[in-house]
Amino acid sequence: MTIRTLESLGSLAGKTVIIRCDLNVPLKDGVITDDGRVRASLPTLQALAAQGAKVVIVSHLGRPDGAPDAKYSLAPVATRLSELLEAPVVFATDTVGSSATDAAGSLADGQFALLENLRFNPGETAKADDDRKVFAEQLIAAVGADAFVSDGFGVVHRKQASVYELAELLPSAAGLLIETELKVLDQLTETPTRPYAVVLGGSKVSDKLGVIGHLLPKVDSLLIGGGMLFTFLAAQGFQVGASLLEKDQIDTVKGYLEKAKELGVTIVLPTDVVVASKFGADAEHTVTSAETIEETPFGASGLGLDIGPDTSAAFAAVIESSHTVFWNGPMGVFELAPFAEGTRAVAAALTKVDGLGVVGGGDSAAAVRALGFTDDQFGHISTGGGASLEFLEGKRLPGLEVLGWTA
Ligand code: 3PG
Repeated sequence: MTIRTLESLGSLAGKTVIIRCDLNVPLKDGVITDDGRVRASLPTLQALAAQGAKVVIVSHLGRPDGAPDAKYSLAPVATRLSELLEAPVVFATDTVGSSATDAAGSLADGQFALLENLRFNPGETAKADDDRKVFAEQLIAAVGADAFVSDGFGVVHRKQASVYELAELLPSAAGLLIETELKVLDQLTETPTRPYAVVLGGSKVSDKLGVIGHLLPKVDSLLIGGGMLFTFLAAQGFQVGASLLEKDQIDTVKGYLEKAKELGVTIVLPTDVVVASKFGADAEHTVTSAETIEETPFGASGLGLDIGPDTSAAFAAVIESSHTVFWNGPMGVFELAPFAEGTRAVAAALTKVDGLGVVGGGDSAAAVRALGFTDDQFGHISTGGGASLEFLEGKRLPGLEVLGWTA
């Protein structure tokens, strides 16, 4: 595996460097609820400052509509970054305007500035290549950039101005976070120690179908939890009550179940689920067999919100006996205490893997931290959900290709 790394940029002392981080953190009432992505960005920022670069940090947060929107401001992130770096971070209230120019201009060697949310400008995510290029050129001019470092692993699957065009227009290289992420993902795709299990959760089957198709020939077991389990149960002919169901995906899922049989891959599906009367922490709930979801007191309006205890135990057994495990997506609605046990059981099993256990993605990473696990209990916590899945699918990721990445 090769990619242009920081050394390829030569000495950055005295140079103005734009670094693309993924500081897209969850916020509640303006407070960061999981700062994992901020922490993961620190090593490259510190390395650049140690070289004497003037470090101009750019990122998106959420999905604003190409215009300023206070609820997506990166201002709280600037404060957190400054605390973690133990250094001032000058915050610019725009991206290509006078605030950005002033912030960058005020930096001495080794100092940091953070620009406001890139997606407040429509050029960042524009479909037309030319529009993105114009925005990237404006960014470079506004801060007087000499070089570009790409370290937002969570966005390398996006062809956006700060991911792709900046890398084309400036001398560019991958930062340390991207290097670390790629080493782990490369191990998962090229040389997994067997048995290799992949655990997929989350809500939408359609988001995960590509990865299922690509992974089936590579894994020994595929464990399915989360909202998408109900489409798998429906594909087996079971009634799923009012649970999340993507009817238009049932035939595709049936195809995967057939393909798994042909390949000798075990798809482990839940045998029991936690069914609730409604969506809410105070809902009445009960455990039932996956075959009898509509036979609880809640009837056809029963809502499956977590995998059941037998399933948790079965999943844990497969995970703990595997030597390579990749997990993406919570098993249930872990944010609500009664429906967090499945996710907790999978996380606990992952900490016991004798080999490489990877938590993939912002949501799953936030889930394990919210449930009280610490980063060092896992082999690796990837900062990119969509990005790591697309990598495992074998897709070409624009943000890596532009940095000269080859498998
Ligand atoms: C993520 O949260 O996966 C990344 O920050 C990418 O965000 P996006 O899906 O809005 O591009």
